[in-house]
Amino acid sequence: MRLAIVGCGFIAQQYAEAIAQRDNLTVVAATDLVPERAAAFVDTFGGAAYPDLDTLLAESDAECMVNLTIHDAHAPVTRQCLKAGRHVFSEKPLALDPKEARSLVALADAQDVRLGCAPISLLGDAQQLAGAYLREGRCGSLRMVYATCNLGRLTEWNDNPEPFLRIGPLFDGAVYPLTVLTGLLGPVRRVLTAHQSLLLDTHTHDGQSFTVDTPDHTTAVLEFDDGVQAQLTASMYVPYQTQHFNSIEFHGDDGSLFLRNCGTLDASEAEAVQFARLGKPYRPAPFPQATSMLDYASALDEMAAAVRAERSPYASGRQAAHVVAVIEAITQCAEQQRAMPVDDVSFVPPPSSSSTTQTGRRAADDAQRKALPPIGFGCSRYRGGTTYVDLEDAIEDALDMGVRLLDCAELYGNESQIGAILQRPGSPPRDTLYLISKAWNTNHAPEHLTAACAQSRDALGVDTLDCYMLHWPDAWAHTGSLANLKARSHEDAAALTFPTDDAGNRLVSDVDLATTWRAMETLVERGWTHTLGVSNFEQADLERLLAFATVPPAIHQMECHPYRPQHDLVAFCHAQGIRVMAHSPLSANGLLHEPVLQTIAERHGVTTAQVVLRWNVQRDVVPIPSSTSAAHIAANLDVFQFALSDAELERINALQQPDFNR
Ligand SMILES: NC(=O)c1ccc[n+]([C@@H]2O[C@H](COP(=O)([O-])OP(=O)(O)OC[C@H]3O[C@@H](n4cnc5c(N)ncnc54)[C@H](OP(=O)(O)O)[C@@H]3O)[C@@H](O)[C@H]2O)c1
Repeated sequence: MRLAIVGCGFIAQQYAEAIAQRDNLTVVAATDLVPERAAAFVDTFGGAAYPDLDTLLAESDAECMVNLTIHDAHAPVTRQCLKAGRHVFSEKPLALDPKEARSLVALADAQDVRLGCAPISLLGDAQQLAGAYLREGRCGSLRMVYATCNLGRLTEWNDNPEPFLRIGPLFDGAVYPLTVLTGLLGPVRRVLTAHQSLLLDTHTHDGQSFTVDTPDHTTAVLEFDDGVQAQLTASMYVPYQTQHFNSIEFHGDDGSLFLRNCGTLDASEAEAVQFARLGKPYRPAPFPQATSMLDYASALDEMAAAVRAERSPYASGRQAAHVVAVIEAITQCAEQQRAMPVDDVSFVPPPSSSSTTQTGRRAADDAQRKALPPIGFGCSRYRGGTTYVDLEDAIEDALDMGVRLLDCAELYGNESQIGAILQRPGSPPRDTLYLISKAWNTNHAPEHLTAACAQSRDALGVDTLDCYMLHWPDAWAHTGSLANLKARSHEDAAALTFPTDDAGNRLVSDVDLATTWRAMETLVERGWTHTLGVSNFEQADLERLLAFATVPPAIHQMECHPYRPQHDLVAFCHAQGIRVMAHSPLSANGLLHEPVLQTIAERHGVTTAQVVLRWNVQRDVVPIPSSTSAAHIAANLDVFQFALSDAELERINALQQPDFNR
């Protein structure tokens, strides 16, 4: 898209540097009130300089005008460009007056051109992740939001503080939380209370003193269309080093969500999003995919996509006009000390960004949600074969940190406990989860298999599992129901699950795999599971199964870690279209202290466990680590912000031990 820059000050340099990185965007024109500035700008960034906006609009073929002028010039410049039939992206705020803002929106509509406005921070990965938690209803009914934007003393960090102090913290700062809040919650219907103070009227910058009379600290309570209230603070007094710089905290009946910096374009900030179900501490929500840093040109990428698709830009002028109306209502409410309706509620919140230009980056639509997540959580209580751990808190933590895949089995004895967790307020909705269960070796006969699956569905509280697996290819003698093994003694559970005769020999069953698999297939026919899977099969077992299966296994779950990578079997499965899931990915003896992994981990600033999990992810294998530690669970999910090189993958592959035995 051909761009014209109007206003060639400091921010224009930043836009231009980002635009220079894009193939789809070109600066073809620039103008500034100071012609020398425009000339210097085009010298560095290309395009032609024009003496004024009139000439630029008359002579340049720029499609989209990028309005980077000072605040009070935004509206007149935008108006002039819209009148000339050009698309416009304006820096914030769209206008200083709500009527003016609305008339710009109407003008853009009348001219059938696109009008976009900063900030675009709602497009950021952190903001989108927070939005996903809200859309899933994780907080329950939202009732209260705390939002802050404390810009601090502008004289400390801004080269030209005076115009910003004159415009005040609402127009320059509160636009960030207001844009994110209205984007996520919809329009504000009225301002219930507001108070504005002038805490510092005299400022010194570059040895010069000046006074301003615009309030530098505002608090307000906003009421959204659906009744949610937001307590907003915007300040140019409170230092930006405050713990509450630019954060939003959403409080609902079932939990709270914390977005550390609602204005950030950088998704690499630690613990950017955190969730706490009611009564539990905040847990970080690691990003479930690689994040990308937005820059100033991201707004223009989005504008270009909106122009192409003839749709409203994601950061729309309409929403920006609503934000201006909210600011006006706050000011009026503070002056008149009475609740003030917000004039303009006619905007529709933007869809989650995955449905606009950021395709493939976010798991927001249903189809993606139902896909096998790239990493899961293992729910086996077994530790070292003979001891049990309780995973109640760990499973809750894992769900709160964003785990979407739970690996369960009747053998693990805790499916009813997991079912109870899934019913709790604050847990993710069923349709966002991928639930696996497995039939144990003693239940291979069709009637026992059907009963085992019924029992697991019942315990987990679901009608349909996402995948039901055969835990092993081996069929053993039936010993009765394995329901709720957790309630049994270790000895009882062992006798039921590992049946032996008096001499200690395994009691097997003669039911063959074909019969068992046919019974598995009827579970799909009954709608009890979406897919079938196997576990601990050798390639020969799989070949045998594939020869008669009408419903082939969708997943093979097998032991997979660098000491036992099972390359051939993984390749065989992938060739057959079977996804591979790595059980016991971390627990091989000595693995997490392996020097090769330690060296690689140090290079990336991560842990050896993260390297192992990332290695699996990069070979398209889904690891299902288990942990009782919240810190480990968070780390195990946080493996998408680094990538192993081919050489590193080779070094890890070389760790394979052909005779490895756990
Ligand atoms: N199909 C099968 O036959 C089969 C067999 C075995 C397992 N599985 C499945 O695979 C899942 C995982 O296997 P697993 O439970 O055997 O063990 P694992 O996930 O390989 O390892 C768990 C162990 O690693 C530690 N750990 C986890 N994250 C860590 C981290 N980031 N840093 C350091 N240590 C970490 C845990 O300790 P902390 O608790 O202290 O974190 C625990 O001791 C099971 O839960 C089960 O779902 C399936």
